[in-house]
Amino acid sequence: MMNKKNISMAGAALIALAVALAGCAGMGSSGSNGISDAEAARLAQESMKASFVTSGIASIDRLTQDELQRICTEYAGKEVPKDIAGKIEKAQLSAIVMPATDTPNGSWQEGEKIAQNGRGLTFSDKAGDVGGGNCYACHQIAPQEISYGNIGPSLYNYGKLRGQGKEIADYTYKKIYNAQAFSACSNMPRFGHQKILTQAQIMDLVALLLDPKSPVNQ
Ligand code: HEC
Repeated sequence: MMNKKNISMAGAALIALAVALAGCAGMGSSGSNGISDAEAARLAQESMKASFVTSGIASIDRLTQDELQRICTEYAGKEVPKDIAGKIEKAQLSAIVMPATDTPNGSWQEGEKIAQNGRGLTFSDKAGDVGGGNCYACHQIAPQEISYGNIGPSLYNYGKLRGQGKEIADYTYKKIYNAQAFSACSNMPRFGHQKILTQAQIMDLVALLLDPKSPVNQ
């Protein structure tokens, strides 16, 4: 259940924040009202905390950032310096857990269901529910699905264009497991790293993208 009081308090805080930020616009790190970027960020955090209503499995710890998220927030909207990006990618890459099989591969039919499924980790899901990847929210994948987002590149014909051997299967598994192992501060969720998807689900997605019989490669 939503708490109306919390929401209106948060609304007031957000308006105050917006006014404070507008005062800062174009004035660098400190505006005429003396609010620095760091102070504005702190106020934003405070207002999010005040408005967060714990519901089911979605509790306030969702607002706690890990070290990588903290760095990426710091560089939001700016280019991450090369040395920092390199360190992030190296650390994320080394934390990837590969499957026991030699070449990551699964069922493209299951992969398509996972790509379509936007459930998981919301307040109305239960702990342990099997979730999906919601991949179509950001990517074109199989051409039969005409409703898709374009934050990410089109993955149509991915296997045809990129090859279908072990090397590309390994890369694709790792990319889905942790996109930031290859592009620091990517917008793509870290599906394996954050335990949004299991290893088996990621292998089904590899099949969706690579299998010559998958609609992606027709
Ligand atoms: C919130 C948006 C978003 C979602 C959801 C998302 N992606 Fe991505 N994806 C991106 C962006 C942005 C890129 C390009 C930047 C990068 O490489 O990280 C990308 C890149 C990729 C790439 C690399 C393409 C290449 O040419 O190397 C693959 C593969 C991929 N996504 C697969 C998936 C799969 C499978 C899912 C679902 C489990 C998924 N993505 C969900 C945003 C998203």
